[in-house]
Amino acid sequence: MEKKDIDWSNLGFGYIKTDKRFVSNFKDGAWDDGIMTEDATVSISECAGVLQYAQTCFEGLKAYTTKQGKIVCFRPDLNAQRMIDTCKRLEMPVFPEERFVEAVVETVKANAAYVPPYGSGATLYIRPYMFGSSAVIGVSPAEEYQFRVFTTPVGPYFKGGAKPITIRVSDFDRAAPHGTGHIKAGLNYAMSLYAIVDAHNQGFAENMYLDAATHTKVEETGGANFIFITKDGKLVTPKSNSILPSITRRSLMQVAKDYLGIEVEEREVFFDEVKDFAECGLCGTAAVISPVGKINDHGKEICFPSGMDEMGPITKKLYDTLTGIQMGHMDAPEGWIKEIM
Ligand code: PLP
Ligand code: COI
Repeated sequence: MEKKDIDWSNLGFGYIKTDKRFVSNFKDGAWDDGIMTEDATVSISECAGVLQYAQTCFEGLKAYTTKQGKIVCFRPDLNAQRMIDTCKRLEMPVFPEERFVEAVVETVKANAAYVPPYGSGATLYIRPYMFGSSAVIGVSPAEEYQFRVFTTPVGPYFKGGAKPITIRVSDFDRAAPHGTGHIKAGLNYAMSLYAIVDAHNQGFAENMYLDAATHTKVEETGGANFIFITKDGKLVTPKSNSILPSITRRSLMQVAKDYLGIEVEEREVFFDEVKDFAECGLCGTAAVISPVGKINDHGKEICFPSGMDEMGPITKKLYDTLTGIQMGHMDAPEGWIKEIM
């Protein structure tokens, strides 16, 4: 299969239309078989649930070309499961796990020419999503839904790739204590747009959100979970009911323990203790592990000893091990790698 003529190494994190996408419709209480289509547009009622009351959710995962020349993706079953949890919370119908994984596999296969080559630094981002497509005008769930999967080749989420970024402590909240922060609802991201535009305008790459109730505990950023490394080499990551259960973070916790012998603590992290950590990173599918060099707290700077030039040493080990597993340099734990072709 011939690859598309794309400057893989200079891709940013943007949308490039690829050839095919998967579409399945939910009507009269059941999902249809779904089709692969070249039509990249969506046609729905002007009064669709998604347009009026934001009834939409999504997932994000990546396909990689391994050292062995295979195309694989990473733990798609966990994305399927998280979308099921999300749909239940949003009164949306569940798209079954096996069908989700199959739709991901088929969509990647149909766009294999867009999967960036091994060693290019780019990957194929996969975006499964679902929305209420039938008309609703009283506030209620839609009766009909569409589930779709498209793909787009991407480079690093943050400009500069693996260079440490500067973030700021946000005064805005991302998620309410008993709200929707733990699911991947589009509305969480709509909530964060004002804050991210403001952060960018002030020269910061992301927002550090604190817990909405007390503003004393670290939650996450708009698109990634936090990991911290203590001065004595432990990995600490915030535990909260209002953050997204990142698949990358859950995988890193296991990689730290089982591959690197690093002690892991998942617990409440008070903002007051952040200044005492040695390293800080953002982890997620898009972010991979993006090192944080500096946190600006209303003008007061927390500068991590790892500095602004490169990743801290433990973050680097975690990064190399995780990407090593994804790219086929290292053996993966059972069930983590789904071979596509
Ligand atoms: N937190 C938020 C708010 C996100 O949008 C994402 C991205 O999916 C993550 C964390 C990281 O999750 P994952 O590692 O499953 O991609
Ligand atoms: C992902 O990492 O897949 C996400 O959905 C985060 C998003 C901000 C791009």
